[in-house]
Amino acid sequence: MNFWKQISQRWKYFTGTLFYLGFAPHAYLYSLKRDRIEQQFPPPQSDEAFDNPGKLIRAEKSSRGAYFYFERAELEVYFLTADLVRLAWRPGIPPVPYAIARHQWPEVETNLDEAEDSYSVSSDTFKVIVGINGSVKFCDATGQIVREEMPPQRKAEGWIHQALLRQEENIYGLGERAFPLNLRNPKDGRLEAQYRMWNYDAAGMYGVGSDPMYLCIPVYWGMHQQGSYLVFYENSYEATFTLGDMATADFEGGSLRYYVTCGTPTQLLERYTELTGRAPLPPRWALGYHQSHWGYRTEEAVRAEARSFEEHNLPLSAIHLDIDVQVGFRAFTIDPDRFPKLPSFTKELLKQGVRFIAIMNPGIKYSRHSNLFLEGQLLEAFCRLPNGKLATGPVWPGWCVFPDFTNPVVRQWWSRQYEYLLDVGVSGFWHDMNEPAAFILWGDRSLPKPTQHYMEGRGGDHREAHNLYGFLQAKAGYESLSHHRPHQRPFIVSRAGWAGLQRYGWTWTGDIECSWEAMRITVSTVVGLGLSGIPYSGPDTGGFQGNPSAELYTRWFQMSSFLTFFRTHSSNNVSHRAPWSYGEPYLSIMRQFLQLRYRLMPYFYTLAWEASRKGYPPVRPVFWSDSEDSRLWDVDDAFLLGNSLLVCPIFEAEVRSRNFLLPKGHWYNFWDDALLEGSQQVNLEAPLEQIPLLVKAGTILPMEEAKQLILHLYPPVQGNSVGWMYGDAGDGYGESRFDVFRIVLFEEGLDLTWEQEGDFAFPYQSVKVHLHGFESQQAWIDGEEVAVSGNRLECGTFEKIYFRRRSENAVAWVEE
Ligand code: NOJ
Repeated sequence: MNFWKQISQRWKYFTGTLFYLGFAPHAYLYSLKRDRIEQQFPPPQSDEAFDNPGKLIRAEKSSRGAYFYFERAELEVYFLTADLVRLAWRPGIPPVPYAIARHQWPEVETNLDEAEDSYSVSSDTFKVIVGINGSVKFCDATGQIVREEMPPQRKAEGWIHQALLRQEENIYGLGERAFPLNLRNPKDGRLEAQYRMWNYDAAGMYGVGSDPMYLCIPVYWGMHQQGSYLVFYENSYEATFTLGDMATADFEGGSLRYYVTCGTPTQLLERYTELTGRAPLPPRWALGYHQSHWGYRTEEAVRAEARSFEEHNLPLSAIHLDIDVQVGFRAFTIDPDRFPKLPSFTKELLKQGVRFIAIMNPGIKYSRHSNLFLEGQLLEAFCRLPNGKLATGPVWPGWCVFPDFTNPVVRQWWSRQYEYLLDVGVSGFWHDMNEPAAFILWGDRSLPKPTQHYMEGRGGDHREAHNLYGFLQAKAGYESLSHHRPHQRPFIVSRAGWAGLQRYGWTWTGDIECSWEAMRITVSTVVGLGLSGIPYSGPDTGGFQGNPSAELYTRWFQMSSFLTFFRTHSSNNVSHRAPWSYGEPYLSIMRQFLQLRYRLMPYFYTLAWEASRKGYPPVRPVFWSDSEDSRLWDVDDAFLLGNSLLVCPIFEAEVRSRNFLLPKGHWYNFWDDALLEGSQQVNLEAPLEQIPLLVKAGTILPMEEAKQLILHLYPPVQGNSVGWMYGDAGDGYGESRFDVFRIVLFEEGLDLTWEQEGDFAFPYQSVKVHLHGFESQQAWIDGEEVAVSGNRLECGTFEKIYFRRRSENAVAWVEE
């Protein structure tokens, strides 16, 4: 790095530190105040504690399960479907069902049978065995026990719930975690791993092993030799999950109400997302590249950034504007002095295909000079303490008050605030600091726990509402965008959230440090979020805090090209970062990956459609390809994009090849079409220009370039295969189409057939079929003979193409 660049970086770091230090006096006062309030209003105590529910007194059949009455507790077993069951223990305050998207379920038949020291409640495919001591076992369709729970223990206000874990059992999920994918194996020498459920602001930087994170979800998967199951606790209170010989969930309050399902990975996610909702189809542009930096202060700076992308021939879909474009860091503001012509400026960007995304923090400046504060006061919109005073805390604008999103009237009021930013052409919103975060010098980085919340009228405090806060802000935002722009699909990225966030927003993985280890852990974080129901997430490419080396940024960029949310973002005290920052050869390499990302858009979009219908995340763990191969259960240094692409990023400097255990089946090397046999270790080349990328044999990979659809055919080794492509206008709720392609392989050639469904007109001007690992010079398009050159064939739409395999003789003849 040259001398001036070093000086400029140091200066940025120094001014950035001063910037943070400026908040220290507020943070000091707040930490004192929060502690005082928490001492003054301790959590309520009850005398209901017990070590076990006592003996079973009576069991009673109900329409969808059964009731069990124990000496000290009651349990309701309730089947929602034949393979999804809810268990609710009483006493305890039932949750407000924010997470639940579906409330009506078709009928399901169940039976209650008595055995010697237990009862079983069963559907045709799932059985719950309730012991007379309150233990519970779950059996799958084949009668295998997949999960065994101990009798629950009631604490003063909360519950402790334990389940046995098998020796080989892996645990995944719990929302956003900076740990290996298998949460049971923290790889730091501990025999027990602990995870906290308390949405938490990393405050500028976190690294591997940081816990808790911004977005906690009490859902986990257990996977062992007898099968897999998923359990979701509908309890938003702070909790600690300990994973050792047992999985212990220790909740500070609320009721013990949870859902269990078992089956294959696809079945688990289908059920869980049927319950908590699926991510709606995003606007297509959102699957493109997003550029961000905490530091674009003016219209001119943003214009220059967009222009640089154009000049460097780099596609760009959105620019994110951070708090520095606001007036005094206040929510719903954009400084008119620095953005004097916002409506025409957003139009100008849009002409270039670039959307303007505005940041939004929930804290409202506590000042009589803030209209939003005055309005909210009239509406009693802000959270209060038990003594009736406003709950205030320091965030970027200074002392702030916090809207109570657990009140529907407040959500509606908040929803209305987006309107004028939508009117001036803002395309989407970035919800930050919504754990909610407050600046502190010690203790918890949020509101005092006794802070009161409306909780849809039933009342509650921050201990219960904290983890719901970002989720409910996203709900308000989503409803606002749907209402004010009914013909466009909302785009919201939220830092915090809870179960069901996927219905309203995407997320990103916050202030990750800039290191190779941090980049690697991102794979587990993103995949783990997907297994927790959230399909759209990604890291700040290159890391938020710190300046990556050219190689680290390039490798990170290559990896992010295959993640759903692809954004570069960096802090205000590091150098501005964009694909051209390091010059050549890095710029050209990043351009190649960026262009590949855009070419893959039909594939990404089809995966997004699938997520909206089935809940499968586009970014999947490697074991998704064969969950019976236990060697794949711990793999978290690679991921699948859909079922067809296997992405193996490079996580170390100067590494130019890597080993990898290929899942079963056959795989083509994307870069040279070499066919590799699965179920074995392979060594793959990874020059700086490439990361290992494999395509599953049998894939029909839809790509696009200019106005052409390119069907890349990776034939199966034998037999047939099928591929889909979803399409529509890219936004709105109009007509759609579905294209189904099939390959039938014969010894002498292959048939490619195409069925078109739906009313949306075919959006491409031409079609190209590109054969991989299959040589052909001659084809028949709907019966008409054509020549194939270089294994590529240009055509229009068709019903069937027969490609004749090039024979040895033909090879000799051509070469002569
Ligand atoms: C914290 C966020 O995590 C980060 O992405 C953002 O740049 C800063 N807040 C400033 O708004």
